[in-house]
Amino acid sequence: MELKDNLDVFGSKHEPYWLSTIERDDYPSLEENLNIDVAIVGGGITGITSAFLLKKAGLKVAVLESTKLFNGTTGHTTAKLTSQHGLIYDRLLNHFGEEKARQYAVANEDAIRFVTELVKEKNIDCDFDILPAYIYTLDEKYLDKIKREVLAANFFGIEASFEENIPLPFKITGAIKFANQAKFHPLKYLLALAKSIPGDGSFIFENTKVVDIEDEEKKPIVVTKDGKKVTASFVIIASHFPFYDGFGLYFTKIHTQRSYAIAVKAKEKLGEGMFLNAETPTRSLRSLTDENGEELILVVGENHKTADQKNTKVHYQNLADFAKSNFTLESILYRWSTQDCMSVDGVPYIGFLTSKNPYILVATGFNKWGMTNSTAAAKIMLDLITKGESPWADIFSPQRFSIFASAPNLVVQNLDVFRKLISGKLTAGSKEEDLKNGEAKVITAEGQKVGAYRDNDGKLYLVDITCTHLGCELVWNDAELTWDCPCHGSRFSYTGENIEGPAFNRLKRLDKEDANVIDPNLV
Ligand code: FES
Repeated sequence: MELKDNLDVFGSKHEPYWLSTIERDDYPSLEENLNIDVAIVGGGITGITSAFLLKKAGLKVAVLESTKLFNGTTGHTTAKLTSQHGLIYDRLLNHFGEEKARQYAVANEDAIRFVTELVKEKNIDCDFDILPAYIYTLDEKYLDKIKREVLAANFFGIEASFEENIPLPFKITGAIKFANQAKFHPLKYLLALAKSIPGDGSFIFENTKVVDIEDEEKKPIVVTKDGKKVTASFVIIASHFPFYDGFGLYFTKIHTQRSYAIAVKAKEKLGEGMFLNAETPTRSLRSLTDENGEELILVVGENHKTADQKNTKVHYQNLADFAKSNFTLESILYRWSTQDCMSVDGVPYIGFLTSKNPYILVATGFNKWGMTNSTAAAKIMLDLITKGESPWADIFSPQRFSIFASAPNLVVQNLDVFRKLISGKLTAGSKEEDLKNGEAKVITAEGQKVGAYRDNDGKLYLVDITCTHLGCELVWNDAELTWDCPCHGSRFSYTGENIEGPAFNRLKRLDKEDANVIDPNLV
């Protein structure tokens, strides 16, 4: 009998713990045209929280999700409900000034309070727990920064302190502690919110892919891939990377990053708290209690820009090695990865898509801190729709221009995208004959660059690796078996299905089903 190595990270379940431990309701797809107050594109935490709040305010809403609720970044989160978003408050104070930086702090602290009260009021069983959050360092050179962060956080009313000892099994040099933060099972929480949305003229639609917004008539019309139309007074784009740009040039001010998570069982318990290091590589830790009442530790980190690495499997291994060197592991149970939208100045874009479209709103660029930023976004957009203003809108305004924070980064990101567009087209491919089972390569066939993947049974899949968004060359991701875009983070399965936007069209299949495109002998 083959003995399974419980400590082999690649023997673990390749699915997020959160999605593995819930039963999701099924919702219908949109079958006919619709008139609604607010159309919300995207069924993650931003879309569902927005729909919940808007319906409560008396509006009729329709959530339009391209696959199933929570399949995207929401289902792949670390689920830290915290206003501690790295060491940011000192930087926000310096770059945005007191008033705007305070808006960020208050909006995110309010988000923790909002979820806490809702969980209590609705008695939502979602493993909710209040606890402190820490950012620690092992390196003297971060101490000053951490101490300045304590001052800045306190200045904005956050209960923060400097600590020399924190409940981790290794020695640290110093840490900042935020009191009264929280962790939860995000999908158990969101399932409860989602249940209250359909009815009385409001809807959730799944398997309903939105591909366009017609906005000439000041009454935007959302158009689905099947040609159905939803006419709305307002549209909220909560699709992670905005699927519709409206000349807001979001693809020049957002880049995407991938990161990795494993869930392990250890002999030791993780101390009371959620933990993040100040240095790189990132190591983020939190615990959860599984369905058998046993503690699992989530180990998260290994961030990198989407599609900028050849070997992505190594990131899971690095997390496993970190866990093994700091805990006595009994097993590695889950592994998953996720993708986040990063803004150029570290602050999300929440508000009207452009100044010319005061009826299309967007929430994106949460910089990995989607649990509170999404909740803050839902409240800001509720205020903008129902009152025309929000006390927190300024710092998050998608139209802001922050020369100190954004200009150098914007230039770097755009040059990087430009370089990828050019170099991707010029790099020579390799021969498909070398392709072993379980491997992928870029090959050249009839002058065309083709992504080739041979599965473990020897079946070959060939796709055109020109991204269907703006034409960048896709890169193979060996940890997830996907073709990923280095420009704006669209992702595709090896069969060509679109997994992640902003692209929404699939890749062209070039294998047997479309054999006239390349030499059929290849397949
Ligand atoms: Fe924009 Fe691929 S996601 S070109």
